[in-house]
Amino acid sequence: MQTPILLRLPRYDDVAAYTGFLANPLVTTWLEDRCQRPVLFHQAQAFVLGEAWCRLAIEFDGRFVGMTGLEDYDPVNGVARFFIVVGDQSVWGKGVGTAAAIRILDHGFRALGLRRIVSNYLLPNEASRVVHQRAGFQIEGQQRQVAWRNGTWVDQTLLAVLRDEWIKRNSV
Ligand SMILES: CC(C)(COP(=O)(O)OP(=O)(O)OC[C@H]1O[C@@H](n2cnc3c(N)ncnc32)[C@H](O)[C@@H]1OP(=O)(O)O)[C@@H](O)C(=O)NCCC(=O)NCCS
Repeated sequence: MQTPILLRLPRYDDVAAYTGFLANPLVTTWLEDRCQRPVLFHQAQAFVLGEAWCRLAIEFDGRFVGMTGLEDYDPVNGVARFFIVVGDQSVWGKGVGTAAAIRILDHGFRALGLRRIVSNYLLPNEASRVVHQRAGFQIEGQQRQVAWRNGTWVDQTLLAVLRDEWIKRNSV
């Protein structure tokens, strides 16, 4: 059974929690370069509450634990990019990331009419690899030495899911 989570619109009181999540290097290490520097409250606020096509808060066990969504919407080609941050480390490994990924992909394909959802993760991010694989992403390639982390250059894996394969895989 899938982990019970709620996806809802972000709220002002999520911002302080999200700022706290991004102060944890275990959360930020495999995120973008801009998250490798301290992320201040107003920067977290711009992300959590700023204008976005599809950006949602994840609740688990009645509390805010992270953010997920679809960015870089390309309406001409029906493409968007999936992202996920389960920032509350205490809930890792309980299926929250996988459940949120499946929920947002289903929303993207069935409600928002996307044709292709792309994503990427830095290669050492094993938890993200597992989440992408369980959600049904296919690996499309690997970019070499895209980011400097923990004293070395790391590769990035590129992935996508297509609507046709999603519907086939998830039809009841
Ligand atoms: C990646 C992330 C979304 C995963 O969230 P989560 O709620 O822990 O995900 P799930 O519980 O659904 O699945 C994670 C799986 O990876 C496994 N895992 C985690 N770290 C692992 C590791 N180092 N080696 C092997 N497996 C690992 C977990 O055990 C779990 O598998 P299990 O159910 O068999 O135990 C979360 O850790 C996170 O947001 N991290 C920080 C930000 C980030 O990296 N975002 C993704 C950027 S691409």
